[in-house]
Amino acid sequence: MLSPNMVALAYLAASVLLILALKGLSSPETARRGNLLGMVGMALAIAVTLQLDVVHNYGWIIAAFVVGGVIGGIGAKRISMTAMPQLVAFMHSLVGLSAVLIAISAMLNPAGYGIADAAGGLPTGNRIELFLGSFIGMITFSASLVAFGKLQGLLSGRPLVFSGQHGLNLLLGVVMLIAGILFCVSGSGTAFALMLMVALPLGVLLIMPIGGADMPVIVSMLNSYSGWAAAGIGFTLGNTMLIIAGALVGSSGAILSYIMCKAMNRSLIHVLLGGFGGEAAGEGGGGGGAAADRPVKSGAPEDAAFLLQNARSVLIVPGYGLAVARAQHALKEMVDLLLARGVQVRFAIHPVAGRMPGHMNVLLAEADVPYDLVHEMDEINSEFADTDVALVIGANDVTNPAAKNDPSSPIFGMPVLEVAKARHVLFIKRSLSAGYAGLDNDLFYQDNTMMIFSDAKKACEALVQALD
Ligand code: TAP
Repeated sequence: MLSPNMVALAYLAASVLLILALKGLSSPETARRGNLLGMVGMALAIAVTLQLDVVHNYGWIIAAFVVGGVIGGIGAKRISMTAMPQLVAFMHSLVGLSAVLIAISAMLNPAGYGIADAAGGLPTGNRIELFLGSFIGMITFSASLVAFGKLQGLLSGRPLVFSGQHGLNLLLGVVMLIAGILFCVSGSGTAFALMLMVALPLGVLLIMPIGGADMPVIVSMLNSYSGWAAAGIGFTLGNTMLIIAGALVGSSGAILSYIMCKAMNRSLIHVLLGGFGGEAAGEGGGGGGAAADRPVKSGAPEDAAFLLQNARSVLIVPGYGLAVARAQHALKEMVDLLLARGVQVRFAIHPVAGRMPGHMNVLLAEADVPYDLVHEMDEINSEFADTDVALVIGANDVTNPAAKNDPSSPIFGMPVLEVAKARHVLFIKRSLSAGYAGLDNDLFYQDNTMMIFSDAKKACEALVQALD
């Protein structure tokens, strides 16, 4: 068994590795190394924890490792890239649930955790930690399950709003706080149970009113909540590693939420309170008339190839449909052919394109698209006005001008890629269907737009053939 000093040193080393992992994950070039460092740090933290003298029941621990490892391994192999956000939401629910279960177990058996006072009860300090860890954990658990259901399509992506919702949330919040404070003061098991029973529906109610396009912010908020829940429980267990790892997840999730709120022009405080953008977000609102009523110009991939090879500059806007079609490799081939012909080709990436932060960067990196061709929205948006062809592949919401022009649109205020300013706009998608936010897109009907109705992979392969 390691001495307390050696344990502290090993935890410190693991914490540094986790911090370096986060730093590595901040850029596609260093993300793989960052991931590896994170895995080594976590393995070290687990190994050191397992040899602590408070750890017994190795049989149960090994069984949990095997069952969890097998389910996790198979799940990770099978899950498609487009289903990642719901997987992440599901994982957050498990983190929340573990925080609650540890809190219940510590509450029932404080001596087993080495935190009992002289009378065998829970000291006040530990009650406060358990209160914080378990209520945040329970809200994270139920809220993440609802987020999972919405992202997986098991629940409607539409905001579910009813009158008096905010009043009800406030009431439940107050009851939960009173029960929690009672528990902190008296150690009453009933107050603890009541606090958890109220936190469970509160998590559901906080997420139900959130509409489709706002889910990315919610997933990263839940990520942050799960970290804080773990950190809260770390205090009770007296485990510095859990506190540090929880705080890293909590703060990085909060920073990511802030960055995404800024990218979508939303207020973080509304997200924290739940139900932001809930009034109108959902199908149909804003963005122009019904798709069937309006004329569109459509063409074949060969027409698109003609425009592309005669262009001086091309800006490609990838979106969710590129990921669904797994068209990134065919797209890379097409880009190589255009570059070989001397066309300037660059990518414009919207911060919430796809279904998870960095989704498009990961796809393009997978296809070995050079990083210097890939530009974030802020640095490239002004270039559309000076671009011959904007090629939008499987993207929709991130180009929708309603976000700028239509105050009644649920996405009004969200910055979008200024595709319409290019001389020609090509849209590759299968139909005139809406994107995640359920909105029609005026760009489809513009004079300088040509729709290529096709699966993204098939269209890119046809473009490669036509350009070859
Ligand atoms: P969307 O607006 O969702 O549009 C994707 C388009 O891809 C659809 O209109 C669909 O049209 C097309 N498509 C689907 N399968 C295709 C295929 N096989 N081939 C070609 N096209 C296909 O995507 P976006 O522009 O990337 O915007 C992202 C949206 O998701 C935003 O509203 C964002 O808020 C939300 N969201 C983002 C995240 C993160 S963190 N990125 C997480 C959750 C939600 P057809 O059916 O006509 O083909």
